[in-house]
Amino acid sequence: MFLCSVIRQSTIDQIFSAASIEEVVGDYVQLKKSGSGLAGLCPFHNEKTPSFRVSPTLGIYKCFGCGKGGNVVDFVMEMDKLSYPEALRQLASKYHIEIEEDNTNREELSDQVKLRDAMYLAMDYATRLFNDNLMNSEEGRNIGYSYFMQRGITHQTMEEFSLGYAMSGWDHFLNTATKSGYDSDILTKTGLIKQRGDDVSAGFYDAYRERVMFPIRNLSGKVVGLGGRQLKKEEKSPKYVNSPENEIYHKSSVLYGLYESRKEIRSLDRALLVEGYLDVLMLFQSGLKNVVATSGTALTADQVKLIKRFTDNVTLLYDGDSAGIKAALRGVDLLLEGGLNVKVVVFPEGEDPDSWCRKVGGERMESYIKESEQDFVLFKTELLLSEKGRDPVGLSETAREVVSSIVRISDPIKRNAYLRQCATLLNFDEDLMMAEAKRQRNIQFQEAGKRTKAVENPQITFLRPELEVDPEKEEEFKNKEKALFQTMILYGEQPYSEEVDVAGYVISELDRDQYQFENPELGEVYVEAKEYYDFHSKLDEVFFTRHRLLGKLTADLLSVKYHLSPHWLDPNEIFVKTDKENYREELIANLNYLKLYKVEKFRHRLLDELKVAETDEDIIIIQQKIHQINEIRKQITQLLGIEGALPK
Ligand code: UTP
Ligand code: MN
Repeated sequence: MFLCSVIRQSTIDQIFSAASIEEVVGDYVQLKKSGSGLAGLCPFHNEKTPSFRVSPTLGIYKCFGCGKGGNVVDFVMEMDKLSYPEALRQLASKYHIEIEEDNTNREELSDQVKLRDAMYLAMDYATRLFNDNLMNSEEGRNIGYSYFMQRGITHQTMEEFSLGYAMSGWDHFLNTATKSGYDSDILTKTGLIKQRGDDVSAGFYDAYRERVMFPIRNLSGKVVGLGGRQLKKEEKSPKYVNSPENEIYHKSSVLYGLYESRKEIRSLDRALLVEGYLDVLMLFQSGLKNVVATSGTALTADQVKLIKRFTDNVTLLYDGDSAGIKAALRGVDLLLEGGLNVKVVVFPEGEDPDSWCRKVGGERMESYIKESEQDFVLFKTELLLSEKGRDPVGLSETAREVVSSIVRISDPIKRNAYLRQCATLLNFDEDLMMAEAKRQRNIQFQEAGKRTKAVENPQITFLRPELEVDPEKEEEFKNKEKALFQTMILYGEQPYSEEVDVAGYVISELDRDQYQFENPELGEVYVEAKEYYDFHSKLDEVFFTRHRLLGKLTADLLSVKYHLSPHWLDPNEIFVKTDKENYREELIANLNYLKLYKVEKFRHRLLDELKVAETDEDIIIIQQKIHQINEIRKQITQLLGIEGALPK
């Protein structure tokens, strides 16, 4: 291993945001407006009529004459015959961006991965240190531990949630962490320490001082963020100091407590959704272990998707005050849109789930929830009626608003049942209610992709360990893999079913089969695509246009997606998004061809083995495997509509 210097991902991101493709290309090519993009004479081959196109919105170029295409860095690489880092450096100097580098001997890992690893390590270290302060230091026990005790949090809960205490003073954490070898840059990125003033030489100080600490874990149990609560009411400092958004912490796609509560959520098939850290802790320790919190911010679509992975049923537990109710109402619509069934519990004025649970205890809390939980329709209808009154105006406004929630439900049977219930509650004509719903749905779904039913694909996991690559077919196979990837790029954000988009579906299928790409480059991109998808819950152009390995492939594909077409005649048609109608069929076919390919190879091997098998036992085992594989083969060929096309 040798040390090498790599450009930091943050710098690369900066370069991509700063470098505009029309400017960079414009240095070499005279571009003219054409449709929603730009066109010019291709610098890579000789031509008299322009077939070179640039899309400023997508940040890509594409020549329909010679086929060259890519993002802004690809262009510089191609034009000036530079390597990837050289091209980045050239662009950085053009846009006056200072290049930050890491010295590393793990050159095979991307910058991004290395940075995030370091941040995870720092967060883990901080969590353990804060927990140690809480449990074992004099100050921690006197102040932090006794605070938790006084709030009714038990020692066991403190351990289970790795609660902690950040010491008073300005540099306890800073000094301890630095002595243990943690880099101040990483500590700053995670938000654990802060820089004094603008200049690094001025030094750093602890971000969390004299606070009790709540570590926030992601689904794999890694601490990605921290919340620190102040212990005395101080006007000057905020009640909570939370980790900033960074490479490992995306507030909008994390739920506090989900890591600890996910099993219970799945087994009870219901999640209790609360607002605060302390609500989670109190309910959890009182035996209501299926509880998660949004941590004070409004619920997001990503968080809804997270919950949906474990259950279809959510009960919102919110404070009885008007802010709590408003938050509950906002949450309802998002949850319905995410395909979840929603109930709402409101606590008496002045009580939140934590205080109420502490007051009445776990058992009565549970029965309180059972007794007072209302379906969202009932909840919203009654709430709006009490606000707006039962006069004709109030009634019709209420109807409209309740319907606006109901139309988010995609299941038509459920939707109609709710519409009828609402009509009854308001004493409204059912047909009128349905008509209003239809009107609102039309508006709402005009842009949404068509929604289709999921088809089960055969699972081939058990085959994988025995697969080997047949060198003759390798190329063909890699092309099929590429084709699958193309589908992800082209239609990744289209709905696959009501629950999941195409990218999510492909990822879940490949994961289920523990699919290993034969094409190592695609395999690498896939791993990152998956990570990206986990964080952003989508796979969009940002990922594809910036991925250096995808390069030309991406431009080709995006140019299809956005129809970066050479049809000059209609200039308005040039960057129109082309959403193919049959992308779903194409996707299923692609996936199944890949599976079929692996199945065929495996089958041939079994047939060969059968020829040389010696004992009866071996023969039976192989025949069983062949039988199994034939079943799968039949399933796949049926799905592909090519039954009988293959040899027996
Ligand atoms: P609350 O103010 O209800 O706090 O905010 P709490 O956690 O219930 O604390 P107690 O009961 O007053 O001691 C609910 C959640 O909103 C977020 C935190 O996640 C908190 O748990 N929050 C609140 C912040 O992030 N920052 C704040 O300044 C306040
Ligand atoms: Mn509270």
